[in-house]
Amino acid sequence: MPCELILVLDAPSPRDVAPALKRLVGTVTWVKVGLEMFTACGPDCVREVADLGFKVFLDLKLHDIPNTVAKSVESVAKLPIGMLTLHTGGGREMMAWAVKAQQQHAPQLRLLGVTVLTSMGAKDLNEVGVAAAPEAQVVRLGRLAVEAGLRGLVCSPLELAPLRAALPSDVALVTPGIRPREAGLDDQTRVMTPGEAARAGASFIVVGRPIWKAPDPVIAARAILSELGA
Ligand code: C5P
Repeated sequence: MPCELILVLDAPSPRDVAPALKRLVGTVTWVKVGLEMFTACGPDCVREVADLGFKVFLDLKLHDIPNTVAKSVESVAKLPIGMLTLHTGGGREMMAWAVKAQQQHAPQLRLLGVTVLTSMGAKDLNEVGVAAAPEAQVVRLGRLAVEAGLRGLVCSPLELAPLRAALPSDVALVTPGIRPREAGLDDQTRVMTPGEAARAGASFIVVGRPIWKAPDPVIAARAILSELGA
């Protein structure tokens, strides 16, 4: 499966990036709408992005009791979205209820699990009662997510290899922390280039600043796509 590009929309509203976003129609297929935008302008911004012609990855990282998460999946299923995230730490039941709601209300929607946030190190995990090392915990939660019926995970580039080794090959792995060779690191530390991530098993790479901060975002997006072999 070729690796695909997801463009991050880290802004309060699609209107804040409208001119550049419109120029990217036809080059970029997927756009990620995150918590910042969704909490600011809600379902309307999802429709706005979809109306421009993009597929939407809605990154809400749901985490609550099974019934509430299932009802939330049912609610967002009315929106034009192709992928939605939830926290695997919510447990097997929560994920299974979410999958059931997705299958009933949005058969085309792919649910993705977030395992350990990459902002959490061994010490942070320990503080919340997790004795396992971060990588072991990521693989443990990844396995649980797949058992519960999720068809993909969000992970850091460094977790691609252990997850690929542990999981069936049809599980999608979606990876931020991507930097083309010529781009700066910004606040990212452990990064891979688009080509490295694709070779390590990423199904989708999530890229923001290297495209938005480039002199010409369309040229930057095309360069990343050509590195992915698209
Ligand atoms: O601008 P940049 O390419 O760093 O954007 C990466 C996106 O992925 C941002 O939306 C960021 O919140 C998200 N992300 C990340 N690292 C993680 C998890 C999510 O950069 N470990």
